[in-house]
Amino acid sequence: MSSVATTGAAQPFPTGFLFGGATAANQFEGGFNEDGRGLANVDLCPAGSAREAVITGHLSSLSLDPAQHYPSHLGVDHYHHVEEDIALLAEMGCGVYRFSIAWTRIFPTGKETTPNAAGLAFYDRIVDTCRAHGIEPLVTICHFDCPVHLIDTIGGWRSRQMIDHYLQLCQALFTHFAGRVKYWLTFNEINMIMHAPFLGAGLVFTPGDNEEAVKYQAAHHELVASALATKLAHEIDPNFAVGCMFAAGVAYPFSCRPEDVWAAKQVDRDSYFFIDIQSRGAYPNYALRYLERNNIMPVMEPGDAEILAEHTVDFISFSYYNSRTTADSSTAAEQMSGNLFTTVKNPYLEYSDWGWSIDPLGLRTTVNDIWDRYQKPLFVVENGIGVKDTVNPDGSIDDPQRMRFLRDHLQALKDAIVIDGCDVLGFTCWGPIDLVSASTGEMSKRYGFIYVDRDDQGNGSFARQKKASFDWYAKVIATHGADLSLPDGYEV
Ligand code: BG6
Repeated sequence: MSSVATTGAAQPFPTGFLFGGATAANQFEGGFNEDGRGLANVDLCPAGSAREAVITGHLSSLSLDPAQHYPSHLGVDHYHHVEEDIALLAEMGCGVYRFSIAWTRIFPTGKETTPNAAGLAFYDRIVDTCRAHGIEPLVTICHFDCPVHLIDTIGGWRSRQMIDHYLQLCQALFTHFAGRVKYWLTFNEINMIMHAPFLGAGLVFTPGDNEEAVKYQAAHHELVASALATKLAHEIDPNFAVGCMFAAGVAYPFSCRPEDVWAAKQVDRDSYFFIDIQSRGAYPNYALRYLERNNIMPVMEPGDAEILAEHTVDFISFSYYNSRTTADSSTAAEQMSGNLFTTVKNPYLEYSDWGWSIDPLGLRTTVNDIWDRYQKPLFVVENGIGVKDTVNPDGSIDDPQRMRFLRDHLQALKDAIVIDGCDVLGFTCWGPIDLVSASTGEMSKRYGFIYVDRDDQGNGSFARQKKASFDWYAKVIATHGADLSLPDGYEV
């Protein structure tokens, strides 16, 4: 019997806590060449075996290959299903919807000076439909997006010029949506730049590059851009709340061997590095020493330190899919992969079909760790499990694994809030409507309460259909998280 304290039955989440769902433009929208949208890095990521080399920045060409299937091009056709999709979220009772902006819909090459009116009009539809349903929009300004023209001409976030191009996007969005959007995230999973640098920063490596140095330089540019975006947001609308966003997940030591404990601490610091800067306002000493020692200190301009110090974020958001387990290189342990992170197999946990650990208590630990470290409001903006769904002959879809995963993670989150006292603004589960997987490009790795008829080869009608979990999540929201129980026959 575990001694972990947990909330009793029928305990709701605090008043004002927001429940909802989250998507990203490149995995959801489709319409990649419609209404003036320009080509972006995400459009160059094929499904299949070539994908990994591309997203890690080891691709050979910045043009489309007719032999490849690019799942982001049509996504799940949200571009032509906006009203239907948001109505489905509203039917579940969602109070918040997180979506991202496709940069090249607003500035097709990244260098225009006037925003593309059709691009803004598309996001008007999303924001206004949300508002009409009483749903709070939560906007990610950049979710793995970078105009190809900026990669071609200036090398993506290698270049400091990216800061100005990004701020131009922010300026256009903040002025256009002032009074209609409150919550903004500057960069999705900013720490992903270290693991998937083409996605995270439009980085393409060439032979001879010191890849780590390039990544830290690009990260510095994004961090300065994020701080300046926060400044701009507060100047344009003092009611804006600006958050950072990182891929979180506590790193456990594989054993209590001190070397394993030390290795786990380093993995945690790799993630916290970004948030230490965005939330506390300065490069932490452990990072400065590491960058100096390895001769990879990014070039910083006079004034950067002040920018970072003066414009820290209002809240901290993060994704949590799994915990990580880490061993010193001298410890013999089996490797696993999880959300583009390589970890060691944790013998106490079960794993999804894609090898991601399932660890609800790890979410509680993660929330507590982040709260203890920063003492700023938190927002869980991604959580969920990718599973294969089967459509029954009668058209119904049973998805008990998804419901159990979310029930257990919501319980852990509730415990972190109610028992441990962490301040959490809300929860947006990942992909409430099925969408393309970021890491694999598959459709068959599904997260949604709503099934989309689309397969890995690009076949399907894009028709939407509720799964069994649809009514369950609606019940969770209707009871404000007091009733997390599964339907009869599903309880385990
Ligand atoms: C996060 C990303 O890393 O994980 C999302 O912000 C992504 O874009 C999500 O989709 C789940 O990962 P995957 O690879 O299963 O799609």
